[in-house]
Amino acid sequence: MKPKVLITRKILPEALDYLKEHIDYEIGSSERALTKEEIIEKIKDKEGLLSLLVDTIDKKVIDSAPSLRIIANCAVGYNNIDINHAQKKKIHVTNTPGVLTETTADLTWALILAVARKIPQSDKFTKEKKYRGWELELFLGKEVTGKRLGIIGMGRIGKAVASRAQAFRMEIVYFDPFRLSPAEEKKYNASPLPLDELLSSSEIITIHAALTPQTFHLISKEKIELINKDAILINAARGPIVDEKALAEALERRQIWGAGLDVYEREPDIEEKLLTLDNAILLPHIGSATYETRLKMAMIAARNLVQGLKGERPDNLVV
Ligand code: GLV
Repeated sequence: MKPKVLITRKILPEALDYLKEHIDYEIGSSERALTKEEIIEKIKDKEGLLSLLVDTIDKKVIDSAPSLRIIANCAVGYNNIDINHAQKKKIHVTNTPGVLTETTADLTWALILAVARKIPQSDKFTKEKKYRGWELELFLGKEVTGKRLGIIGMGRIGKAVASRAQAFRMEIVYFDPFRLSPAEEKKYNASPLPLDELLSSSEIITIHAALTPQTFHLISKEKIELINKDAILINAARGPIVDEKALAEALERRQIWGAGLDVYEREPDIEEKLLTLDNAILLPHIGSATYETRLKMAMIAARNLVQGLKGERPDNLVV
């Protein structure tokens, strides 16, 4: 008999075809994320779970599945899972690192340029037939080339963002608990800086840290106040790293020049004020959303799941 698995939401057909050969699965929904109560109800008799980053897999969910052996999260981040509790119960947790690094770095750059050069506003204006001819001061943005880029979290994605910044001849400063090797600092033209100094001296600041209890509201109201009036803040990591309400207020007061956000503190809810601001560019958490990358993520999650259920060591073990 094949092991029973809950896949919380419809995933790409190629991954489902692969899974069909190895497991019996139930798909939570094709339309929307399951509620926690629905997950609890459906997971009771399952040995495996393929979860998405929007699914809350906390102690209560884990405890409702006595046969659960593996949680394969289809994301690199796993802040949605209580990994300590899973580990205590000897349940494996896996993620999908590596494959979304370049894709997320590309999206980060799309956001930087979109904010700096007011791309969405210009597009809207043009489509609304408001363009009456070239004007010296039409949609004046911010120069990116040669500026100082502050990267918070210099892991895989932070480095991929830094590597693209070389083409813009940027000086890079970074904040991370781990220092890069001298060779890497040279390669990325990057120097470490304490967070406060990074915030007060960078012209573009971009966040690529994981969400942990230590990084929750790392960019608090007080830290936001350190940011330069002409600076741009980008977050394509996890929403709760930034105090979203404080950021919205700072943007409204023009205490920060602009922000580009792909993630929010209470997804899918977004601080109402942000929706009204023309200096905030908002995306619906699409950092890794290319067909190629999402397929790789789904296949990796599926493979991790099958490996775990077969009693093998999954490739991307978190715990
Ligand atoms: C995306 O946000 C991920 O963690 O994979």
